[in-house]
Amino acid sequence: MIPENTGRVLFSRDRIATEVRRLGREISQDYDNREIMLVGVLKGSFLFLADLIREINCPAVVDFVRLASYGSGTQTSGIIEFRKELEMSVRDRDVIIVEDIIDSGYTLECLYNKLQLQQPRSLKVCTLVDKQGRREVDINADYVGISMEDGFIVGYGLDYDERYRNLPEIYLVEDG
Ligand code: IMP
Ligand code: MG
Repeated sequence: MIPENTGRVLFSRDRIATEVRRLGREISQDYDNREIMLVGVLKGSFLFLADLIREINCPAVVDFVRLASYGSGTQTSGIIEFRKELEMSVRDRDVIIVEDIIDSGYTLECLYNKLQLQQPRSLKVCTLVDKQGRREVDINADYVGISMEDGFIVGYGLDYDERYRNLPEIYLVEDG
């Protein structure tokens, strides 16, 4: 089940759980019991969102979008496709986009700009992993679980060609 060309655990279950708890605390403090709308970006964020929402003690509603930016390699195709739209309106809500990982930033920028046009009361971004060294557009997350420079990772929701999402740790597949 472990990816063949790796074997190295980069972030353990414990490390992930610690950062998710911290993010939940920060968000809970910042929103101070206001209702939050979490917008999960499928598919990669499904585990992160599931754990994060249980660490948030403000009222919260959830919706998902499905965006795809990758073919089957580890490089961005640059083309962002909306495969599933939101079902709820973001208008006048305090919205937090929940991403698994920010790489070039194209996916997030595309979603951020689209939601901003729909007039949320506020719009912030929470990502489990921030690959800072790879950024190609000027966009950053307000809440960051773990930062890394570069490299391709799988596990805890993150895939390589749709596989390995169910690994409970995060593995490094390819050094940057
Ligand atoms: P961006 O548009 O280049 O920022 O790419 C963001 C999307 O690419 C993420 O939401 C992931 O689905 C995917 N992605 C980027 N880096 C990785 C990685 O290291 N492992 C798995 N998926 C990744
Ligand atoms: Mg993906």
